Amino acid sequence: MDILLLGSGGREDALAWRLRQSPSCGQLMAAPGNPGIARWAECVKIDPADPAAVVSLAKEHAIDLVVVGPEAPLVAGVADALRAQGIAVFGPSAAAAQLEGSKGFTKDLCRANGIPTADYSRVDTMQDALAAIDDFGTPVVIKADGLAAGKGVTVAMTRAEAETAIAAAGDGPMVVEEFLTGEEASLFALVDGDTAMFLASAQDHKRVGEGDTGPNTGGMGAYAPAPILTEELAARAMDEIVRPTAQAMVEQGTPFNGVLYAGLMLIDEGPKLIEYNVRFGDPECEAIMPLIEGDFAELLMSVAAGKLSEPPRLADKHSMTVVVAAHGYPGAPTSGGAIREIEAAEQVEGVTVFHAGTARGEHGLIACGGRVLAVTAVADSFANARARAYRAVDQIDFADGFHRRDIGWRELKRTIA
Ligand code: AMP
Ligand code: GLY
Repeated sequence: MDILLLGSGGREDALAWRLRQSPSCGQLMAAPGNPGIARWAECVKIDPADPAAVVSLAKEHAIDLVVVGPEAPLVAGVADALRAQGIAVFGPSAAAAQLEGSKGFTKDLCRANGIPTADYSRVDTMQDALAAIDDFGTPVVIKADGLAAGKGVTVAMTRAEAETAIAAAGDGPMVVEEFLTGEEASLFALVDGDTAMFLASAQDHKRVGEGDTGPNTGGMGAYAPAPILTEELAARAMDEIVRPTAQAMVEQGTPFNGVLYAGLMLIDEGPKLIEYNVRFGDPECEAIMPLIEGDFAELLMSVAAGKLSEPPRLADKHSMTVVVAAHGYPGAPTSGGAIREIEAAEQVEGVTVFHAGTARGEHGLIACGGRVLAVTAVADSFANARARAYRAVDQIDFADGFHRRDIGWRELKRTIA
């Protein structure tokens, strides 16, 4: 089958790499792609969030399946436009993408269906938000409604912090919620409408600095699987959170199709939902792709066609991704720095270097973006995957870059303890 992949980051490089290895994958195109993706796919410079442009490209090349990487095209209705033309697409409709786009929508869906999540109150004004804080006490969590790329959330430890966050947000839709204490893990499930199956678990590192300090980023590294999400906890999360969500979406006439990424808090009572994303995580996707066995293109097509029947198979291995970012990230990153020795890094056994923000300069590869590379290693154990990932990172010559040295620290602590 001929496939069109939408997106241009490290996540999409990993998806393209995995799709290219699938026996059923014929022609592979990417829009707009990047120099890493160009190793596996033909890149076409169109706007992936422009429904008309995507439909016309897919038709021109008789594409059988469109795989959507990032959330922007989903929210813009690209999946709807493709389905309206009878083109199979892996990714939800704009209506179903509200599971990520609107915190209030998801919280209400949880409440109506008995899905475990933090207690909450939806408010529209600063005054009501302050009143809600009186009810919840502190710590408390304040979330702006709408897509905020992880930046619309404040975990306020004190009343003063909560008041500052509310003042900064101003009047407008907000969710004020109960603070949950526990360890976080991410669960990735494939959902074809009414059938949902567990795909993988992972844990990422959102803060820019070592020891989980400094501002939030898209993610500075990840590993998979996340052993704290045991088979038993994953099964509970599927039964108590993901399946009832898929069912509720079908019942309200907005079935979900694609990958549902559940951010979970593991507390004593069991897993609770923190948030949904309607796409693969980045860099979680880079860590997960090397673990997936079988024909990945066929698996995604079975989801797109509403015929998911075989549970995805995962290798009994461990994988780690270390992100190399450009100085300045997550603020304004330095652009244009030369990147060398990726080939040397890939000489390390089990390593693939995915491109997140690179471009072809006059004299070779250069940085163009905050997160630049996603160095990924697979091995038979967590410790070996970690060692390989850092050995590979140390080969890379990128003077304008930095990375965290402590990716996987929680797991490392557990395996040593
Ligand atoms: P979100 O964008 O909803 O994933 O929130 C970003 C981060 O805020 C999460 O990854 C958690 O670390 C934290 N967070 C969100 N909601 C809660 C909660 N109810 N209790 C504790 N921490 C939370
Ligand atoms: N790594 C977190 C995300 O993709 O949202």
